[in-house]
Order: sequence, then C-alpha cells, then structure tokens
Amino acid sequence: MRQLSAEEKKWVEETVKKIREKMTVVVDRNRGIIPYTTVDGRFDDKSKDDPCWWTNGFWGGILWQLYVLTGNEMFRQEAIGVEEKLDYNLMNAQGLDHDNGFKWLPTSVVRYKRERNKESLNRALLAANNMAGRFNIAGNFIRAWNNWDEVDRRGFAIIDCMMNLPLLYWASEETTDPRFKLIARAHADAARQTFVREDGSVNHIVVFDPFTGDVLGSLGGQGYGEGSSWTRGQSWGIYGFALSYHYTGEKRFLDTSKKIADYVLSAIPENYLVPIDYRQPKEVNLEDSTAAAITASGLIELATQLPEDADKYLDAALKLLMTLDEKRCSWGTETDNILNNCAVDYHGDGHNMSIIYGDYYFIEAVMSLAGKALRIF
Ligand code: GLY
Repeated sequence: MRQLSAEEKKWVEETVKKIREKMTVVVDRNRGIIPYTTVDGRFDDKSKDDPCWWTNGFWGGILWQLYVLTGNEMFRQEAIGVEEKLDYNLMNAQGLDHDNGFKWLPTSVVRYKRERNKESLNRALLAANNMAGRFNIAGNFIRAWNNWDEVDRRGFAIIDCMMNLPLLYWASEETTDPRFKLIARAHADAARQTFVREDGSVNHIVVFDPFTGDVLGSLGGQGYGEGSSWTRGQSWGIYGFALSYHYTGEKRFLDTSKKIADYVLSAIPENYLVPIDYRQPKEVNLEDSTAAAITASGLIELATQLPEDADKYLDAALKLLMTLDEKRCSWGTETDNILNNCAVDYHGDGHNMSIIYGDYYFIEAVMSLAGKALRIF
C-alpha cells in the first residue's frame, strides 16, 4: 500500500483530532447507555429498548478505539459497562444469532485480548459456540437470524455474516480447536460460491433448502429488490472476504474481496455519496453513509493485504471518507452522532438518520489510516 501524501496525512491527523475532541464530550454526557441512533441529535439507549439488538456491540468498539487512542479511563470503564449489559443477551437464545460476532468481538474479545479477563473469555467462547452451532452441514452455511415472526428462515444465509466470522477464527486460535475455523472457512466458501455474481456484485440473502442444502434462490433483503445491489451488503462482502483472507491466508478469499471491490469502484457515483442500492432507480435520491464508511474501512483492509495494485482501493477509501467528512459529518458537540444520512434499508422508513455502526466504521477507517486503530474484526 502506498504512503499517504502530506495533504492526506494532514487530513487524517485533523480528523482524528476532531473524533477525539467530540467523542470525549459525547461519551462523558452519555454514561451507561448503548446507543443505536439519535432523537433530536441525542442518543437513544438500546440497552433498555432492545437489549438483544444486533448493533449493541458497536458502542463498545468505539469506546475501545478511543481508549487506545487517548488512554482516558472513562472510555475503558464505559466499554466494560457495555460488555456487562450484553450478559442479558447471552442468556437469551432467541437473541443470539449469526451477529454474535458484531456483539462480542468489539467487547469481550477485545477486552480478553488486552487484559486476559476470564469473564470476557467465557462470554466470547459462549458466543462463538452458539454461532458455530448455527452451521447447517447440508448447505455448509451459517444460518441467519431466527424465526421471530411468521417468516421461515431455516435456510437463510446473508452476506453480513462474513463480518462475524472473525469470532470463530479467534475461537480456534484461542482454544487450538480447529472446529470453529473450519466452520468459518466452509461458510466463507459457500458464500463465495452462492452470493457473488459474475459481475462482482453480491446478493443480500441466499435461501438454501435447510434439509438438502440445495440453493433455492436469492432475495433482495434490505436492498431495492431481487438481483439488486444493496450497498451495505457490498461493503460487508468486500470487508468480510478480506478478513477471511487475513485469518486463513487462502488467496481465493482475497480474490473474492477484490472482485467485489472492483465492482463497487465501478458503481460508486461520481460525487462519492453512496446510495442505499447501487441499482436503485436513478431518480431516487436515497443515501446510506454507513455503506460509505464500511466500504472505506473494507477497502483499507484489502489495500493493506495487497503488496501491489492497492492504490485504487486506498484512493477510493480516502475519497469516501473525505466526502463524508465534508458533507455528511456533524462535528459540533450539540449532536451525539458523527455521520448523517444513514439508512437501515431501502423499503423501510429508516432513512436519513444516524446509525451507530456508521460512526464505528468511520472512526475505525480514519484511525487505520493514522496507524492508530485497534484490530477488532
Ligand atoms: N447486518 C444488518 C445490516 O447491515 O443492516
């Protein structure tokens, strides 16, 4: 990966400073919560509203990144608070799913790696075992979600799951038991074969027959529709396959990440503001800043793994982040969130809002460029 230019370095340093200054104020006035979004600029608290919500680990990730950056004990104490609140979730089978990685990698795994805390190890291994137990041997996939409503999801797998596999890679490294890694790698191979289209775009949902493992079809999921290209799903794909390469060293995963990244580079609009779906109707003006931030972080991960041919990925990551900074960030302390114009999905009403993982991946990406990020995924 190339060195940053003097101008790029200056931008990175200034942005790290803005993150540090804003978040020191924001965390201090929001003790003891787990935010998801903002209402009138102020964080909500999912630890009360929805303690098993899939995003409940990202605040922990932000706090650990800030603790490593600043050494300010406030961030560490708040991060431990998030981890402890997740224990309610760990005792709730319906609240556990393929997203265990998003919850316990930025909380228990981070703390265990740094502090060798036995309770953190216990939590992370429980989460990894539960996730491994979701593996369907007929189709070699980790089942997504649960049957919380009338929808039968026994055969569902989703591209987002790729980002959770590092929990399983970590569990094998920690226990020396290969089962977790074998499951993660088998899922990554199934995803490589069934999610990634000829042109490099990826499906959000692939539906398997849960008894035979046959692929029954794909669904548009949170994107515009079947065959479309949900931008956050593309970003989970770039980053997730790059991570499977990082943890296995197996080049086919790197090649898959590059294939998705090359498609995304061809689809990003000229203004670098990312839509909710790269194939949404032209007249629709819906954006998703989370997809921009996750794509940037994934492209940086990919670029660091490539000895050459990485400049285009780093260039695109910088353009995405600088555009967010200039046009879609709130740096004043009157609001708790950083990123604006985030979206949950195309068809719902969760548009033009703040979402905590947008802030997490923006912070992670900028800190990676500064050489100051903690590896969480
Ligand atoms: N993993 C769910 C989402 O990206 O919205």
